[in-house]
Amino acid sequence: MNTVGRVYLVGAGPGDPELLTVKALRLLGEADVVVYDRLVSEEILALVPDGVSRIFVGKASGNHALPQDEINRIIVRLALAGHRVVRLKGGDPFVFGRGGEEALALAEHGIPFEVVPGITAATACAAYAGIPVTHRGIASGVQLVAGHCRGTVPLELNWKTLADRELTLVFYMGLANLSEIRAGLISAGRSGGTPVAVVAEGTKPDQRRLLTTLDRAPEDVAAAGIAPPAVVIIGDVVNLSARLDWFVPEIGAQSTVAQARHG
Ligand SMILES: C[S@@+](CC[C@H](N)C(=O)[O-])C[C@H]1O[C@@H](n2cnc3c(N)ncnc32)[C@H](O)[C@@H]1O
Repeated sequence: MNTVGRVYLVGAGPGDPELLTVKALRLLGEADVVVYDRLVSEEILALVPDGVSRIFVGKASGNHALPQDEINRIIVRLALAGHRVVRLKGGDPFVFGRGGEEALALAEHGIPFEVVPGITAATACAAYAGIPVTHRGIASGVQLVAGHCRGTVPLELNWKTLADRELTLVFYMGLANLSEIRAGLISAGRSGGTPVAVVAEGTKPDQRRLLTTLDRAPEDVAAAGIAPPAVVIIGDVVNLSARLDWFVPEIGAQSTVAQARHG
């Protein structure tokens, strides 16, 4: 092959294969090679036709299987070899997915690319936990926040900008830093009684939802044994979950709905 190929930066959504976009499904069927991350679910990988090459470049927090530069090099090399590459990423490629860095690497090499958005974990997990992230009279905005930093660097966020009671916060990768998140938000003026939902393995048969409050969240998460991937949703909209929780994980899965009760 001597013509340059094309790269599709495709969001796979949060896990439920039915949340894949029609465009993503079509591109999987037309790909020469699929380069995918750890958070892409087995059910979605099963949609890749037999005979299409798959390259796993997945990363676990603190355990980087492949450095980002190496991933960039792989997709550039595949495209320069003339392949039609689907770069499949969990959720949305441009939301904490480093899709922007990959797009820049492609642009630098003059490789044509397209971005196919996916449903990001924040809105998907909230929806599957019965939480509207905005709600008239309760929350007029939502903010997506990275809850971890590289290596052992402490979490440094502008807590004041996150203190507004009408702002729903959704922390990605925040489980390990829940104590810092609690301290930062409370010091900036958020009430310790602010409702919190932690949604792990969102939209999948083994989804878990923990309802708690800001002042108890780290301890309740530890007691419930909740593990990543999980989002932490903070704000008064979480109270709606008790009435709007609709998702019934599949029978046979190890799903639990944990409700922390206090006082
Ligand atoms: C590197 S970020 C990738 C986010 C992704 N690009 C997106 O738009 O959802 C990984 C984090 O996303 C969140 N996440 C992704 N999928 C999830 C799921 N199914 N349930 C809960 N959290 C999820 C977790 O906070 C996880 O640590």
